[in-house]
Amino acid sequence: MAELPGQFWSGWVLVLTLASLAGLVWLVFSLYFDGDQKTQDAGPIWDGNLREGEHPAPLWWFWLIFISLVISVIYLMLYPGLGAFSGALKWSQGGELHERLDRFSMEFGSTRRLVSEAKLETLREDARLMASAQRIYDRNCAVCHGYDAMGQADLFPNLRDADWQWGGDAAQIEQSIRHGRQAVMIGWLPVIGEQAVNQLTDYVLALGRGNAASHPGAQAYKSYCSACHGADGFGNVQLGAPNLTDGVSLYGSTREAIHQSIAEGRNGMMPAFGDRLDDTQIRLLVAWLSREGDDRQ
Ligand code: HEC
Ligand code: HEC
Repeated sequence: MAELPGQFWSGWVLVLTLASLAGLVWLVFSLYFDGDQKTQDAGPIWDGNLREGEHPAPLWWFWLIFISLVISVIYLMLYPGLGAFSGALKWSQGGELHERLDRFSMEFGSTRRLVSEAKLETLREDARLMASAQRIYDRNCAVCHGYDAMGQADLFPNLRDADWQWGGDAAQIEQSIRHGRQAVMIGWLPVIGEQAVNQLTDYVLALGRGNAASHPGAQAYKSYCSACHGADGFGNVQLGAPNLTDGVSLYGSTREAIHQSIAEGRNGMMPAFGDRLDDTQIRLLVAWLSREGDDRQ
């Protein structure tokens, strides 16, 4: 029992506790049953006829104190309080906690096992589990991705569309949540200059409309951008480089937004939740966010 005091202090605690109890008993008894109690007219007289008398304290006080003393003694016999003596009931806070943990895992252990073993499909069909997934989402993710998970402020991606920057299958979504994501797209203005940035802005707009085939920006795109966004602009989920052809855009589809993305770069960061959520919570979120496909056969 590491949390109880060692031998030396235990002895002191014991002696001091018992001594103060004994002292209290002596004090109370001497006050009430002391042989030569002062009588009514023992005190001095003030102002001619005001006598300072001394009434003994009422007897029910005595019984109150006596009962509390008895209760303290019983308490000290049952529960830890006297140094290292752990009490007849062997109760401890640690024991209490363990008992509650056991009760908790008995109640929720089977749910946890179900969540870790069942297919995502099965989890998705369980309305109760999906409701808890939504609560986990509301508490942890909604500040950024919005309460409806539709994204926010041209900064936080929509998690409800078919467009996944980092991949939309279960394993990829789990990776995004557990380890976070750091997108790296440098600012191109200092590298290629304003004219090329403008040309590429037009090219990206054309890609979005699907008429970029003979666009004059194609050459610059091939040299500077295709390594990440792909030769046809379909993106690369390994790098989190978005698809530029699907009309879905994280930072906005206006000319200004696209120009800014290219000129200044973008470094979106999704924080890692591996330490903040446990496996069950993460799996519920993955089931809730992924729409089809399953990682277990
Ligand atoms: C501090 C804000 C913030 C919080 C909180 C946050 N995210 Fe994100 N998340 C982001 C940003 C920003 C991105 C986009 C990163 C990028 O630009 O590549 C992102 C990306 C993602 C992606 C990848 C999307 C894609 O298209 O591939 C998933 C999945 C995701 N978040 C899920 C979650 C879940 C689930 C939670 C809650 C456990 C959460 N996020 C909490 C900011 C946040
Ligand atoms: C090193 C890889 C890489 C290269 C090279 C690169 N990008 Fe990107 N690009 C990214 C990543 C990653 C993102 C996502 C940034 C984020 O989520 O914060 C991105 C985002 C963008 C966006 C914003 C998309 C949106 O959804 O809002 C545009 C537009 C873009 N890039 C255009 C270009 C152009 C044009 C070039 C060539 C000059 C280029 N990129 C070169 C990796 C790259």
